[in-house]
Amino acid sequence: MPTQYLSIFTASNAQQRKKNFEDYWVFTQQHGGELFETEKDLAKKRQRLKDFQDNPVKLQTPLKDPEIFYRNYVEMQDDPKSLDKMTLMLTAIYKFARHEWVGIKGAWEVSPTMADAPTLEARISRIHLAEEFCHVRLFDEMLKTCGLDKVEWVPLSPWKEKVYEFFPKLPPFLLNAPAFITELMGVTFYLHLHKLFDEVLVDEPEVRDRLKALLDEITIDEVAHVGQRRNFIGSTGIEVSKMLVKPFYTWFFNDIPEVAELFDVKQMIKDGIAFDFNNLPSDMIERSWIPSYCKVTA
Ligand SMILES: [Fe+2]
Ligand SMILES: [Fe+2]
Repeated sequence: MPTQYLSIFTASNAQQRKKNFEDYWVFTQQHGGELFETEKDLAKKRQRLKDFQDNPVKLQTPLKDPEIFYRNYVEMQDDPKSLDKMTLMLTAIYKFARHEWVGIKGAWEVSPTMADAPTLEARISRIHLAEEFCHVRLFDEMLKTCGLDKVEWVPLSPWKEKVYEFFPKLPPFLLNAPAFITELMGVTFYLHLHKLFDEVLVDEPEVRDRLKALLDEITIDEVAHVGQRRNFIGSTGIEVSKMLVKPFYTWFFNDIPEVAELFDVKQMIKDGIAFDFNNLPSDMIERSWIPSYCKVTA
């Protein structure tokens, strides 16, 4: 019988979490390979991206008017209802990835380097952040695959940048629940995006499969991040976290006008609250990491 999994909000004790951090540390080192700290990169991830770049695929029918993308990708200028689904999807991908990029820039600056990391958790977090930088490169490759090679990664408005810089400096008891829910929101969004590829790229099977492969590289890491960030949280915090799903998802997705046009946010909230790993493909689970207390032991 295949392994069954329990809710990500399943309670755990301090000893289980300590053991799971040790287990995650073993996983994360082999998963990403050597850390290149000055480049914010990881050996295996770099190679994966290079494999994609060395074997590019292209749209059979190029975007009709890339200017519509470039006019709306940083800030929506047009009525989102006037945009075709493909362009909306691409601007939504950029906007989601941009938030991720801004968040990790702030966190990278304040987190100790690997050499100075005082604890196992701090070493785990350093690699976690390097993985997030790899995700931005993979998102960039998705856009290039669709012919968009003039994309710039633009900072958010100054006050939003400040929020993201401030966030990682919060004490752990305030930071842990939102940091966990942010990872969960990422996985939820990526699973919905994966389905959207089937719909939007129905006539572009090569690009559809490439975007799915690029996205899978990200989702595998994010599934592991969900478990890892969940592992920072005790029994009260995990109840608080569950209550944060709805307000967090609502607040975050309201800021990206494309999302309401493309996705069912109510369903994403339901999926976030119900998340338990059981619906993930087995090849993804094999390459990812799940806390021991979320597994059913026969
Ligand atoms: Fe990520
Ligand atoms: Fe993540």
